[in-house]
Amino acid sequence: MNFLHIPVMKSEVINALALKNGATIVDATVGGAGHSKEIAKHIKSGTLICIDQDNDALCASWEELNKINDVKVSMVHANFVDIREKLDELGILKVDGIMADLGVSSFQIDEISRGFSYTKDAPLDMRMNRGQKLSASEVVNEWREEELKRIIENFGEERYSGRIASAIVNARPIQTTGQLSEIIKSAVPEGYGKTGGHPAKRTFQAIRIAVNNELAILEKFINDSVEVLSPKGRLVMISFHSLEDRIIKQAFKRLATDCVCPPKTPICICGHKATVKILTKKPIEPTAHEIKENPRAASAKIRVIEKL
Ligand SMILES: C[S@@+](CC[C@H](N)C(=O)[O-])C[C@H]1O[C@@H](n2cnc3c(N)ncnc32)[C@H](O)[C@@H]1O
Repeated sequence: MNFLHIPVMKSEVINALALKNGATIVDATVGGAGHSKEIAKHIKSGTLICIDQDNDALCASWEELNKINDVKVSMVHANFVDIREKLDELGILKVDGIMADLGVSSFQIDEISRGFSYTKDAPLDMRMNRGQKLSASEVVNEWREEELKRIIENFGEERYSGRIASAIVNARPIQTTGQLSEIIKSAVPEGYGKTGGHPAKRTFQAIRIAVNNELAILEKFINDSVEVLSPKGRLVMISFHSLEDRIIKQAFKRLATDCVCPPKTPICICGHKATVKILTKKPIEPTAHEIKENPRAASAKIRVIEKL
């Protein structure tokens, strides 16, 4: 399988994980193993647990990772929200580092049949895990107009969400990504998207986030990851849009704060204790050189915490 995906900020991720020989590390989004291969080189006789909810990604990355000697590699087909249960099943109680490189891979976008791309014509799918029932076809053809408007506005930050939701409902049934793209284009003013990318970009992002429930699981993943980290263990999160970054930033802040009582509460009643230290006051961003080489990296942001 030809899995094309350039890992973003590879050296920054490796530095952020502070890898040591013999460490146990989880790559929660292994994709094409771009980051994992580099991690494996640094942990030598250590253990690498690779999670992905896409079987194609797991197969492609296993082809790469099984060539590496010394490191013990486990491949896990799962949603990373289940990280604790999956580590339990492997008999692993604590790990030294966890990374998550969010969203879809270039491989998934470029594989036309997966239906992620607004520039290609394919059945409406967009599932990262093809064993899952909910697909883009159900969202586009069955969800109520208000619900469509809500996700396009909230997950796509699309200012024409109302017009687009109404155009989708009026055009049903919609079979393919090409049809959907045309419907969106005809619903927004001419010339819209000239500067901010393709007019269907934001709506496709919104539908993809809804299909894969991408945002709702993030906070649980972060909290559960911190539970399984050893003291001084690191969690490294790479996000690609402001919605993800906001959730990560807030979850990190909460975990790094002693008291989380509402403001103006005279004395602390929550009893919350900080369990992590934030290592990135400002997120790490790619260099101009990396963005030139890999434009997909442009919006990437890395945030890192360390377990106390
Ligand atoms: C951006 S790619 C990762 C690329 C990888 N770091 C590399 O260097 O090749 C994201 C991968 O994470 C997977 N993924 C996204 N959300 C997931 C989730 N909630 N649980 C498990 N895997 C997920 C996707 O299927 C995809 O393969």
